[in-house]
This record gives sequence, C-alpha cells and structure tokens, in this order.
Amino acid sequence: MSATSVVGLQWGDEAKGKIVDLLTPQHDIVVRYQGGNNAGHTVKFNGQTYKLSLLPAGILHDGIVSVVATGVVINPQAFLSELDGIRGQNGSVTNDLLISDRAHVILPYHMAEEAVLERIRKSDAIGTTMRGIGTCYRDKAGRTHAIRVGDLLHADTFRQRLDSIVEQKNTILGALDPSYEPLDSSQIFDEYQGYAERLKPYVADTTSYLHRAIKSGKKLLFEGAQGSLLDLDHGTFPFVTSSSSSGCGIHSGSGVPERAIDRMIGIAKAYTTRVGGGPFPTELHDDIGQRIRDVGNEYGTVTGRPRRCGWLDAVATGYGARLSGIDCLAIMLLDVLTGLEEVKICEAYDIDGERTTDFPSQVETLSTAKPVYRVLPGWNEDITGARRLEDLPQEARRYLDTVSELLETPVEIVSVGPDREQTILV
Ligand code: IMP
Repeated sequence: MSATSVVGLQWGDEAKGKIVDLLTPQHDIVVRYQGGNNAGHTVKFNGQTYKLSLLPAGILHDGIVSVVATGVVINPQAFLSELDGIRGQNGSVTNDLLISDRAHVILPYHMAEEAVLERIRKSDAIGTTMRGIGTCYRDKAGRTHAIRVGDLLHADTFRQRLDSIVEQKNTILGALDPSYEPLDSSQIFDEYQGYAERLKPYVADTTSYLHRAIKSGKKLLFEGAQGSLLDLDHGTFPFVTSSSSSGCGIHSGSGVPERAIDRMIGIAKAYTTRVGGGPFPTELHDDIGQRIRDVGNEYGTVTGRPRRCGWLDAVATGYGARLSGIDCLAIMLLDVLTGLEEVKICEAYDIDGERTTDFPSQVETLSTAKPVYRVLPGWNEDITGARRLEDLPQEARRYLDTVSELLETPVEIVSVGPDREQTILV
C-alpha cells in the first residue's frame, strides 16, 4: 500500500501545485477529489509554464494516470478547453485520463444562479470565484436538480431532466432578479451533447478503478484543492467553498478509505493569504502586507484578485493540520519573508480577554479574535539558493523551528522559490 496526500492547511493558494508536481513522478496515479475550476495552479514542466485548474498534475507526465474523481464538480467546457490548451502547449500530453461518471456537472444556470445570489447578498457576499461551484454542489445535495457526468451520456433522459430543471431555474431566478435573462434548454442540450461526445472516452467508474489500483499495488497521489479552512463543514462557514477541502474530503471525494493513505503532507505558506470575504485575524493592512503581496505575487490564479495577506497564523493553520491529520509540513514561499526586520507568528488568540489556541467555530467570534504574536528576528540574506537547512540563516531556521513547535509537526519540505530545484528536503 502506498498512497500520499497533499492538502492545504490554510485558505487555499498554499502552492500545493509545486509539491504535487515534485511528487508526481514517484506515483502511478494522481487523483483530484473535490472542488472544480475554482482551483488553479501553475506548474513548470520541461521549461514550459502550465496553468492547471481541473486537470490533475499527472496530465503532464507520460505513463501516469490522472483521475478526476467523484467529489469534483466538472464544467465540461472549462475542462475541455484546459485539455486543448495543454495539448496545444505540449503535443505529447498523456491520454491517461479518467473522469468519474458520478461527478456532478456544472451547467450555465449554476453560474447565473451564483451571480444572482452573490448580488443579493451585497456586502455579505462570499466573494466566490463565480464558477458555479457552490450552486452545483447545492444541486448535488438537493438531488432533484442534479446532473452527473454519467447522465450526459444518456441523451433522452438528459434532455428530459434538463428541460424540467431549466424551466424551474428560469422561474426561480426570474423571481429573484427581474433583470435575469431566461436560459434556453435546447441550446444548452446541444452544447452539452457536443461536450459529452468529447468526454465519453474518459468517463469511467473511477471508484472501482482506484480500488483495483490499490489492490494491485499502484502508488496513488491525492491532490487537494483549496485549503482546510475553506472546508464546507469545518472551515470559516459561510466564507468557505462548497466542498470538503480539508483532508476529510479525500475519502468521500474519491471513494478510497482513510486506511489506504499512509502519508499526509500538509502544505502551508510561511505567511497567510486569503481571497474573498471572511475573517482573517492576522491580516496586515500596512506596508508589510503590501510587500508580501508584491514579493509573493499574491494575485489569484483564477480570478486575478489581489489576495489579502498577513502573518502566519499557527492557531488557524494548526487547526487545519489537526483536521487533515497530517504527518509532516511543507512550508512554502519562505523566501518572501526575506528582508523583514522581524517576523511574527500568531501563537494564540485573545478573545474577550481570554487567551485561547482553539479555532472558533463561529465567524462572529473569529472576527473579534486578536492575534497574540511570537515575534522573531528576520533575516536579510538571499535564501533562494538554499538547498539544505544548513544553508539557511540562523533566523530563518529559528522561524521554521517555531512553526514546527507551534504546529506540533515536523517540517520536512521548505520551498525557497518557484522552481522545482528551489526546495529543501529535510
Ligand atoms: P467558490 O469556491 O468559488 O464557491 O468560492 C468560495 C470561497 O473560496 C471564496 O472566498 C473563494 O475566494 C475561495 N476559493 C475558492 N477556490 C479557491 C482557491 O483555489 N484558492 C483560494 N481560495 C479559493
């Protein structure tokens, strides 16, 4: 048995893509199990830069199977254009790709519905990526308006269900928003029939496939999207995504039981970022926050939005780590902190005068939490060439030791730059 999982411990964008890319060649199968084209990461491979959103990193590697498992929500148009784009860049892109027939499909009314709902919430808007992710998962949970990948392949029943769903969606959305333009189910049907033809060769029962793969000793790599604090059940609800984006989602999203996974790697940035709304106790609204944004190029891969930046929050990240049951930490973008006189890590919250290391379950409480910082000396030396811990200045090592102590987990990987080689394996 050999399965590894890579999961984000913060609010997403922890640079998981780099670690997944590093680990991919040591595996036979790479599995995406939740989220959709709200995710985005950049991978450098054979001198080219690729932007992946729905496709697992395995797609760039010959002989490695990429699986888009049951818990993912699939926008077929986005999926196929990503595949075409990568093929255009790299003609030898592997065809070893499987999409779960149980995965749910994003349809145009999901985007329309999300636009209406976010508009209605005004200043309380979640600040979603507007990709129809939450509205598709809503229909999945509701069951009556859901379409799965397997349904696309049965034209007659798909047509019937689509007509009835589109009629109801038009009624509801028209009532919520007088400016809503009704959608035409025939047009959607024709468009999605075209996608179905193209997707067909990849559609499979990925759950059975993964069970067989485990039995025959294949090595699996699970690639999490977003981060643990955006988890629908355990994150900063309602400012979360609509899937189980902590380690808890691996099993429900892929159908692979927990005991089949032997190594959980938790990915965290050396600081914290967040896109969209919701409380963020260590957020910096000053020059240091702007500096982190500029040096770390903290702008969304999917939406281009500037990310909110702040100090590393060991209370929030530690909670993410415990949720996901991680064995070791990968600390990313350590080089971004170079040049700061001092660096801070939030080791506790002060809530109503009480000091706590528990992560609050209510956003109203979290938004009153004042961070209690451990202040450490910074470093000025360029660390982007460091390849061993010993190459790092003493202050940077002390920073990592403190992270490890506060998160009660060993740091096994440190990233000091975007390239593969700019990695310290401890
Ligand atoms: P949704 O996933 O589009 O519904 O957005 C819900 C929340 O999750 C918003 O705050 C988004 O900014 C955030 N989010 C979704 N995907 C990502 C991601 O890949 N990285 C960081 N934040 C994300």
